[in-house]
Amino acid sequence: MRHVLSCEQFSREEIDGLFNLTDHIRQNEKAYSGAISDKVVATIFYEPSTRTRLSFEAAILRLGGKNISTENANEMSSAIKGESLTDTIRVMDGYADAIIMRHPDIDSAVRAAEVSRVPIINAGAGSGEHPTQALLDAYTIYKNKGKIDGISVAVMGDLLYGRTIHSLIKLLCLYKNITIFGLSNPALALSNDYLQYMAEKGVNYTIVNNLKDLPSDLDIIYQTRTQTERFLEKGLKAEEIVIDKAAMQHFGEDTLILHPLPRRHEIAPEVDSDPRAKYFEQSTNGMYMRMGLLYEILVNSKN
Ligand code: NCD
Repeated sequence: MRHVLSCEQFSREEIDGLFNLTDHIRQNEKAYSGAISDKVVATIFYEPSTRTRLSFEAAILRLGGKNISTENANEMSSAIKGESLTDTIRVMDGYADAIIMRHPDIDSAVRAAEVSRVPIINAGAGSGEHPTQALLDAYTIYKNKGKIDGISVAVMGDLLYGRTIHSLIKLLCLYKNITIFGLSNPALALSNDYLQYMAEKGVNYTIVNNLKDLPSDLDIIYQTRTQTERFLEKGLKAEEIVIDKAAMQHFGEDTLILHPLPRRHEIAPEVDSDPRAKYFEQSTNGMYMRMGLLYEILVNSKN
């Protein structure tokens, strides 16, 4: 594995290997505490982040690596002086052994990878993709369900601009007998590209308009935040479908709730104590999965 740009690049075998490696690191953390002690990893974020940047940085430090970071690269890097992303990357690849980046442009990670001599990890590219989030989402499903084949998933919230949704859909398409339901405000429905992608991969996608239209034995509810920062300027308004205690009564005890976070009001805090709520576990899983990914890229792969 060299760059991580899109979930389209993964094979089933690679993901199985990554999850096994993640479990092994988790169970033997001490043995890995110096695994990348000779590596410097850069985190460059042109958009806000809490979990993604800090879990990557924690992962780097827990593997004994060193981190250089710009958390507000739009203002705090030479971007504000007019430097292009590709020039910045060409400089950074002389300082770091891998570059983890988040940027508002959909094609930013691909453009960076075209000029970079070191691996680029896409940590969120505009409203395009967020592949490492999907890996940790799938890892959380696998840890809780013991499998991913055959599951049913409802993707909810902002299906149009939500990059975590886009990457998760592509990742789920690698598995067998997947059923996906889409529940969103019609203004934020999934675009045709993704509908076509699922159709080509044989994944069954059904649009529903109400939580009560979802099967009560659904495996996963994947709720997301409305990406207001991406569509306010277009004058769109979208009512959110809220998951609260009453809504959860419709589902059985095996229906798990995931959310990439941050949440606003789309999951009521009263749901947090429900044993089916897995979103905080999901963010912890993210750090371990990112340790696995960094180990895979910096130690296992011949770059
Ligand atoms: C998401 C993102 O940045 O796309 N957050 C994350 O990485 N966990 C989701 C969001 O911002 O709504």
